[in-house]
Amino acid sequence: KRKGMIFDLDGVIVDTAKFHFLAWRKLANDLGFDFTEDQNEQLKGVSRVHSLHKILKWGGMELSEEEFQRQMDLKNENYLSYVNEMDATEILPGVTKILDYLIGNDIPFALGSASKNARTILKKIDLLEKFDAIVDGTDVTKAKPDPEVFLIAAEKLGVKPEDSIVFEDAVAGVQAANRANMTSIGIGDKSNLGEADYVFSDFTEIEREFIEQLLRK
Ligand code: BG6
Ligand code: MG
Repeated sequence: KRKGMIFDLDGVIVDTAKFHFLAWRKLANDLGFDFTEDQNEQLKGVSRVHSLHKILKWGGMELSEEEFQRQMDLKNENYLSYVNEMDATEILPGVTKILDYLIGNDIPFALGSASKNARTILKKIDLLEKFDAIVDGTDVTKAKPDPEVFLIAAEKLGVKPEDSIVFEDAVAGVQAANRANMTSIGIGDKSNLGEADYVFSDFTEIEREFIEQLLRK
């Protein structure tokens, strides 16, 4: 059976989740309030525009359309200042090994990210050419937890949703994978990612036998 894998980017391939957090927190602080790590979990995987809506709600604030746009641009500028410093050493432990395994065994894999900066980041870390398909925030109309991003990715790989395996660090992303009828693998903390079919703290915890078993199913 032809199987394919789909990787989220932020928090799965690279630890850009921490840069998103820093940039959003600066925005909130500049507007005069703060938010917690717990609230930050709810921002993971969530599109830029939805994230700002959530944050403003937490701060009990409303912005004009113009100011909303300006704040989104400022956040992204700040975020990109961190991205600019990135190189291949930022690829999270165990990721290169699994990608090389997939390449060596002719198993297709795609990127499925909400980010509009995905291609910029993949280029910075020298992974742009490795993916068989890239679906990002510029390709979708519906944000995670909607399954659209993963369904498009599976289609581009030529695999059925039920034969697709998704790696995600975000609650919204795990939900998107589940709604797409795909196998969901959470990367992170079990206490947040309990809805996933499997959870690992990072890729170094995933044994080759586990991957082989998933591919045989
Ligand atoms: C997701 C991140 O991958 O992309 C979110 O987890 C982020 O934190 C979203 O808001 C959109 O990213 P960007 O780079 O287009 O602002
Ligand atoms: Mg993520």
